[in-house]
Amino acid sequence: MTKRFVTASGAEVQLGRELGKGGEGSVFEIPSLPNQVAKLYHQSVDKLKQDKLRFMATHGDQALLQYAAWPQGTLHPSVSGPVAGFLMPKVTGRDPIHMLYSPAHRRQNRPNAAWDFLLYVARNTAAAFETLHAHGHVLGDVNQGNVMVGVDSKVILIDCDSYQINASGTLHLCEVGVSHFTPPELQGLQSFRGVKRSASHDNFGLALLIFHLLFGGRHPFSGIPQKSDDLIGIL
Ligand SMILES: Nc1ncnc2c1ncn2[C@@H]1O[C@H](COP(=O)(O)OP(=O)(O)OP(=O)(O)O)[C@@H](O)[C@H]1O
Ligand SMILES: [Mg+2]
Repeated sequence: MTKRFVTASGAEVQLGRELGKGGEGSVFEIPSLPNQVAKLYHQSVDKLKQDKLRFMATHGDQALLQYAAWPQGTLHPSVSGPVAGFLMPKVTGRDPIHMLYSPAHRRQNRPNAAWDFLLYVARNTAAAFETLHAHGHVLGDVNQGNVMVGVDSKVILIDCDSYQINASGTLHLCEVGVSHFTPPELQGLQSFRGVKRSASHDNFGLALLIFHLLFGGRHPFSGIPQKSDDLIGIL
């Protein structure tokens, strides 16, 4: 793959080491911009997704950047070429949230992280979701790998290019999702193609993340009543 791209204004960007790889793209260091990384797509990007990325790159603000690795600029093979990827802030020194809510990983990686720390992480995760929702956007693909947690309990969301984006009235849908964090009403769909997500759908995933954090990685639906009248007292 070519290692040289240009921004929308023609500035040259040389890629360095690959930091991570997903289904859609790979993320690279940029030696000349140590606080930024570049995500390059494995496949060519269709026109709608190019529009989405251009909108995102020009509509990030301080509130979003506090909680998300929001696209900062598009990358192209040449100035007049299509969008092939984008620049975003580099996320370092953070672990995906599942490394915290799994008691085994927490014991190993964050032995001093106690209940109060988990409460702060839960609070900060909720604040990240709320900030996105206040801008009219929806995460859609809530999952355990896209919420990155620092030693200060602050949370940064990654994989923002998959979000459902409200581009001043034009909706760019999120067409992916993980069944574990998908609310009951969206379970069983063949795919998320054409499905408009809402903040409430995200909030189901958020509630799950928080439950996992506060209850040792357990799922709220995993409890099995021991007797047929177990739930009568609380219903
Ligand atoms: N802003 C960032 N700073 C540093 N590393 C990052 C950043 N964003 C992503 N990464 C790394 O690159 C990997 C792939 O990124 P990302 O999840 O955005 O790709 P993807 O192809 O969309 O993945 P998926 O198919 O799971 O949606 C991440 O798991 C992470 O390790
Ligand atoms: Mg993705």
